[in-house]
Amino acid sequence: MKDEPLKHLITIDQEEFQNDLITWFSKEQRDLPWRKDRDPYRVWVSEIMLQQTRVDTVIPYFNRFLERFPTIDALAMADEDEVLKAWEGLGYYSRVRNLQSAVKEVSEKYSGIVPDTPKEISSLKGVGPYTAGAILSIAYGKPEPAVDGNVMRVFSRILSIWLDIAKPSTRKVFEEAVRALISKENPSYFNQALMELGALICTPTSPSCLLCPVRDHCHAFNEGVQTELPVKSKKKAARKLNMAAAVLFTEDNRVVIHKRASSGLLANLWEFPNFEVSSTRSGRKQLEERMEEAYSVEATLKAGVMTKIQHVFTHIIWDIEVYAGSVETSTLKETDLIAVTIEEMEKYAFPVSHQKIWKETSETIIKQLET
Ligand code: ADE
Repeated sequence: MKDEPLKHLITIDQEEFQNDLITWFSKEQRDLPWRKDRDPYRVWVSEIMLQQTRVDTVIPYFNRFLERFPTIDALAMADEDEVLKAWEGLGYYSRVRNLQSAVKEVSEKYSGIVPDTPKEISSLKGVGPYTAGAILSIAYGKPEPAVDGNVMRVFSRILSIWLDIAKPSTRKVFEEAVRALISKENPSYFNQALMELGALICTPTSPSCLLCPVRDHCHAFNEGVQTELPVKSKKKAARKLNMAAAVLFTEDNRVVIHKRASSGLLANLWEFPNFEVSSTRSGRKQLEERMEEAYSVEATLKAGVMTKIQHVFTHIIWDIEVYAGSVETSTLKETDLIAVTIEEMEKYAFPVSHQKIWKETSETIIKQLET
């Protein structure tokens, strides 16, 4: 007979488990800016930011974002470039483009009130089962599961579930477990307590079981297998791409930048002109050739790589060689390239890798321009 993954569910004393978890959270929860109230918009923004990004990193972004776009309507009406600028450095930019589309829909279709039913909220762009459950439980007090990787880790240990959490089909099993155990009186604290437990106690490599408020309920602890769980198969190794990028100045000391396509990786962000190159030939020569092919722009690049930048995405690694050079302003007409002053650079949202390019080269280049 196939092993039943939730076979331990019936052994948990539901009431005691909820009580231990929620009492602990009431006392030990961190003071985080999105916990000040239950405004569904604030909960939503925080949950989107917290996907793929650590709490410490998110806090200042969250505060700035809410100062800038304090309401659904403010974000719905904001200029996309400004929204991307507020997200600059957080990564996974489709999160914020989807958030703004969804917020526009809430503004138009629901008079600016975030819907409170699973069906309606899940139909919004970028709102998957985790985000839907988090908003419904935290902001609206509905007993819906909010299962992400952290919650799967916690529950895989409590219930000794040996399913591969990297497999998309596994999440449903954990949702079933949470549905069975969630507090109907305080689903908000129940779900947040699971997140907090995952962050503070039930950590990936060395869980602090001796401090755990639900240790007595934990099958993995009882069996001594807490560090063997969760089961998580390895992803494929990221693919390396060799790139070359150009920091080009015009004769009137403006910087040449390019807006990325409106779909795909880092959509609508700004960048220095760059191309994938072969590692077998000079990056500089290839970059000059590609500038000509792509934009009919004759760029004159200085010999020698100014700096090398590596940026690791989920599936791709960029290895970027950076060159400095010059172009004539007149040749930029009717291309996708624009020339902006050094002061204007900070108004544009760049991916982290291209912020690094600017940070590591601008001082040297500007000094050279002055001499
Ligand atoms: N991770 C995901 N959601 C969170 C939240 N609301 N608080 C802390 N960490 C989280």
